[in-house]
Amino acid sequence: MERVADDMADHVICLLPGDGIGPEIIAEGVKVLNSVGEKHGTSFSYTEALIGGAAIDACGTALPEATLEAANSADAVLLAAVGGPKWDTTDPAKPRPEQGLLGIRKQLGLYTNLRPVQIFPALVGASTLKPDIVEGVDMMIVRELTGGLYFGKRERFYDEAGAGTGGAAGQRAYDTMEYREYEIERIARQAFDAARRRRGKVTSVDKANVLETSRMWREIVHRVHDADYADIQLEDLLVDNAAMQLINRPADFDVVVTENMFGDILSDEAAQITGSLGMLASASLGDGTALYEPSHGSAPDIAGKGVANPLAQILSVEMMLRFSFDMAEAADDVRRAVTCVLDEGWRTADIADAATPSEKTVGTVRMGDLVVERL
Ligand code: IPM
Ligand code: MG
Repeated sequence: MERVADDMADHVICLLPGDGIGPEIIAEGVKVLNSVGEKHGTSFSYTEALIGGAAIDACGTALPEATLEAANSADAVLLAAVGGPKWDTTDPAKPRPEQGLLGIRKQLGLYTNLRPVQIFPALVGASTLKPDIVEGVDMMIVRELTGGLYFGKRERFYDEAGAGTGGAAGQRAYDTMEYREYEIERIARQAFDAARRRRGKVTSVDKANVLETSRMWREIVHRVHDADYADIQLEDLLVDNAAMQLINRPADFDVVVTENMFGDILSDEAAQITGSLGMLASASLGDGTALYEPSHGSAPDIAGKGVANPLAQILSVEMMLRFSFDMAEAADDVRRAVTCVLDEGWRTADIADAATPSEKTVGTVRMGDLVVERL
């Protein structure tokens, strides 16, 4: 599909469908955007570019230069998902779809990843946890996104001499976790600001009993807090304990701030609390163009079947309206429409249960249509 930015449009959005179910769900996001535009007297125009496996197939790299340019010159980026078995490899010399995602995060300077974890009342039963534990869950995971292990120095090589091992020759590999003061300071501010808009509590997650980066993290988070955010309640949790407490008392958490790798792991865990990864959106913010994407992956097993849940993509559109375009009312509308559709009992297969009648189990396009109708 050829898309050309319309210079007259109020907002230009760069679409990155990616792989697997990506193209199917992003189409529903666009449908919702167009409907919001009509209702709120705003126009959106779209550019489209390749990322991930689709880009590897077409250009040999997961993040072509043209994609970066399209992203940079847009007002916001809407991404669907990347990856699939076709491009799975452990060969460090081969391109991987994830490099597209990591590259665009780094290149656009998207250091703040916001992952809201909310439970829609109609879906309380979808969780594997007891209803009384998940009821009222409403947290915001603030994940540092451009530092730490993901971007540190790494290497894999064959150590002929087995240096320092008494001669155990063999492969060696390392990744390094490094943080700088300003990186921790700015993500801490993002977390405290988010808490001010919410319930006023921040849980900072680290591994300060072992890691030097974590000890520095803790010191800086507290310094920022004491200097500028004394009104916010701050607690520290070690990451292993945090993994346990998230399941034990998820409703107690408001804002959770943590470094890149811990945030990756804990956000999947938190998603499972809701029982419906297909519902969770995310926003990646920096100082320039922001990027919005579902928290879930490209689900290659169901790609092209028209059954994927488009709601996380649609809720990413909600976040875009809120954070990039300052359209809080329109964003609330989208959320209300999604809530309404769920309350009426409509489900895609991933969130349907034994009690869902078959006529209420719908595919990707129908689910998108339902949301648009309720708008
Ligand atoms: C995520 C994903 C990515 C990450 C992968 C696909 C590189 O798991 O957005 O959480 O690890 O950040
Ligand atoms: Mg992840």
